[in-house]
Amino acid sequence: MDINISKKARFSTLLKFVSPNEQTIPDFNADEGEIVYRYENHTTIIYCGTGSADAITTTKVRFFAAKGIQKALDLKRTEVSIIVDGTLCSSQYSSAVIEGIILGAYKFDKYKSETPRRIKHLEIIGSTLNSADLKKIKSIACAVNYARDLVNSNAHEITPVFLEKEARKLSENKSVSLEILTEKEIKKNGLNLLHAVGQASPTPPRLIIIDYKGDPRSNKKVAIVGKGITFDSGGQNLKPTGHIEPMRIDMAGAATILAVMRCLVESKTRINVTGVVAAAHNAIGSNAFFPGDVYKSYSGKTVEILSTDAEGRLILADALAYCVKKYSPDEIIDFATLTGGILSALGDLIAGLFSNNETLAQSLFSSGEITGERLWRFPLYKEYCDAMKSDIADLRNLSKFKKGYASSITGAAFLSEFIDNTHWAHIDIAGTAYNEGQCRGDTPQYGTGFGVRLMMHYLTDRI
Ligand code: BES
Ligand code: MG
Ligand code: ZN
Repeated sequence: MDINISKKARFSTLLKFVSPNEQTIPDFNADEGEIVYRYENHTTIIYCGTGSADAITTTKVRFFAAKGIQKALDLKRTEVSIIVDGTLCSSQYSSAVIEGIILGAYKFDKYKSETPRRIKHLEIIGSTLNSADLKKIKSIACAVNYARDLVNSNAHEITPVFLEKEARKLSENKSVSLEILTEKEIKKNGLNLLHAVGQASPTPPRLIIIDYKGDPRSNKKVAIVGKGITFDSGGQNLKPTGHIEPMRIDMAGAATILAVMRCLVESKTRINVTGVVAAAHNAIGSNAFFPGDVYKSYSGKTVEILSTDAEGRLILADALAYCVKKYSPDEIIDFATLTGGILSALGDLIAGLFSNNETLAQSLFSSGEITGERLWRFPLYKEYCDAMKSDIADLRNLSKFKKGYASSITGAAFLSEFIDNTHWAHIDIAGTAYNEGQCRGDTPQYGTGFGVRLMMHYLTDRI
């Protein structure tokens, strides 16, 4: 799909945005995302309602632009001229239109025998954006779609080694250096938790570090870390039917990291970011790690395994500690489909935010409000950390609380043991990474790519 800026409409399908007070089309209120189409002199005009012009926000624009392009797709159009005028002319809103169009046109059709028709050419008419702006917006929105593809594809394809290959593609760039720990090196370096989780799989674990130096003159650097469980069977604490089926999505945090790194590299962003992916397949098998056993983590702290299904915190513990020790970032932010509990608390609309630093938490929260990838912060009081202390080891990977009590917070409390004093935020995306329901405008069914736009905003808006 190519998108260009054009002075006048060349295609026979037009997408126009109208607000309730400017529209004159019968039986159409121009409510937010309401669509009608009309044939006029050899052209099809798709009218897309924006709702009240005074109440427009970028999140709404993204939503209704996505609805508009989905109508064009329904009508099997392959070329569409998009008219951006009136309130939508500003760079902020026309950027959101383009994002909504690219995100809304996404369809995961890899496993369909008949490939549905796709949009081939798009042009934007009337926006104040220049081609450099367009390139940047495209890069971010395409990165979101890339993360979605990674999440949606079969677990047999998206293995830890596959994720390593994706990272290697970025190393062609001069500003990128890679560090990859193989299974042997994971063991040799004492990342025993990551090793344990991955040990029963025929596809061995990896620690993947993409160090991007976009601003070599600066010493400041942010690290972003992703949970990359390529399939979470639960291990010996096997997940039951009804819970196991979507578990190829358990690498959504890793997908977010790879997509953000790809976007930073592609747009030559002047910032230093270390992207870390802890990748393993949590398999069941005769070689699987045992519930009840104690392992020594990379940090030196010992961990009693009380559930092999609480594996995300194990691989992240080693990845966080390794990253802090070897790369000394100023701040570290992790993305993980960590707990089902976050779905009970916030549903699939908002991700959980946990942090040991007010400023970091506030900035991330603001980026969430602006991008529409919203976050809500939870407390990390001492009692939650105490609940992760073990009698036989330093820590336990399951809390002492009653089953299901505060599982998202205690999961985060466990992670907080592995970051020393580094400013840290943990974002639990177990709810937002995957949409089990129907498409909601710019949020498709299945993998959503949540976190990519949030992180790009957080990282680039502050420099
Ligand atoms: N990968 C799951 C969390 C998850 C649940 C992701 C639903 C996406 C959708 C994680 O590894 C897990 O199994 N968590 C357990 C933790 C519990 C054993 C403390 C959970 O949430 O039940
Ligand atoms: Mg699990
Ligand atoms: Zn998991």
